[in-house]
Amino acid sequence: MSSIEGKTVVLGVCGGIAAYKSAELVRQLVKAGASVRVVMTRSAQEFITPLTLQTLSGHPVSTSLFDLTQESEIGHIQLADSADVVAIAPATANLVAKLAMGMADDLLTTVLLATRAPVVVAPAMNVHMYENPAVQDNLGRLRGRGIRIVDPAVGSLACGYEGPGRLPETEVLAAEIERAVSANDLEGERVVVTAGPNREHLDPVRFISNRSTGRMGFAVARAAWARGAEVTLIGGPTSLTPPHGARVIRADSAAEMHRAVRAEFKSATVLLMAAAVADYKPKKAADQKLKKGKGGRVLDLVRTVDILGDLPARRGQRIVVGFAAETEDVVANATRKLTSKKLDLMVANDVSRPDAGFEVDTNAVTLIDSEGAESLELAAKDTIADRILDRVVAIRQRRKRR
Ligand code: CTP
Repeated sequence: MSSIEGKTVVLGVCGGIAAYKSAELVRQLVKAGASVRVVMTRSAQEFITPLTLQTLSGHPVSTSLFDLTQESEIGHIQLADSADVVAIAPATANLVAKLAMGMADDLLTTVLLATRAPVVVAPAMNVHMYENPAVQDNLGRLRGRGIRIVDPAVGSLACGYEGPGRLPETEVLAAEIERAVSANDLEGERVVVTAGPNREHLDPVRFISNRSTGRMGFAVARAAWARGAEVTLIGGPTSLTPPHGARVIRADSAAEMHRAVRAEFKSATVLLMAAAVADYKPKKAADQKLKKGKGGRVLDLVRTVDILGDLPARRGQRIVVGFAAETEDVVANATRKLTSKKLDLMVANDVSRPDAGFEVDTNAVTLIDSEGAESLELAAKDTIADRILDRVVAIRQRRKRR
């Protein structure tokens, strides 16, 4: 279950051109399992209609403090109390100023004063307005009060200027909202995740690789950040967009990945090796493109280093998680690797199933640790990622109790 599932998000929409993007945000939050209650300012309704957001959220949109019907259905205090998180996207300079002053002259600002829930503010405006010291001072005051400010994206703005001021992508906003609402049970952890395949080059244009897409590792990195961790993602070549919040290190070959893992392991508290590391590489990669001859060609392959096997013996309080891709005797093979690689947790994956493992969004795994084996039903990789991290949290708690 992702951190946002079952949570109530009160989404405030202000009157800026980016208001139209709130429709996509509502859709995404609802898809992730949140209950979304939209509050629109008067000027927001000049840019997008309440009907749009009402249809997408499946709940009435609140627009006025003084509307008798709205107040009797869900009053402003009830709205403030119902929120697990309040997010404002887009937030105008005017809203930021009113919030900084503690004003309550409409429904949205009143809800913001009345709520005890965490607040996320995503300012979006013209670059000169955003850079104005008054706006920056106000944002600083909000940060000082523990309000999470999502930095605007940089790019071309609707007003024709270039610079910071754009409302960030929906995925970024959703990730920030999820992190604000999560139990933060990985706060203080420095999580390193590897993901994707490796490429071992034969020559400058050809390589040996495998079917891994990186989706499982990216899902783990995304979920770990949402749960409060500091995340470094060491990724082989993939076509995926890196999850928001993670520091990304690109590592194409097993040797590059090995170097990156060794360096990052020093300061890590948790390592999850989801990458499908290449086990073999060509004995020698040609400097120039190999020309074909008449007959066949035999590849001379040598072993790459076993990255997990090469970790320092003294691991302190670090938690190390391996992923076993198997096509037969899945649990037995994975359990053997758990011991031989001195792991705290093994995620065993039957990659012979068409709906699990490589190139699909779902997975079915068995989690194996010192407490035993637990088979998880087929589920989205995002869900599986959270279940893996639940186990990591449980291992950490057991260690602390000891
Ligand atoms: N792994 C690693 N270095 C390698 C190969 C694998 O660190 N050179 C890691 C993987 O990232 C994974 C775990 O070891 O977390 C198990 O990977 P898997 O490919 O299933 O195991 P192997 O040890 O390579 O065994 P085999 O391929 O013989 O099944």
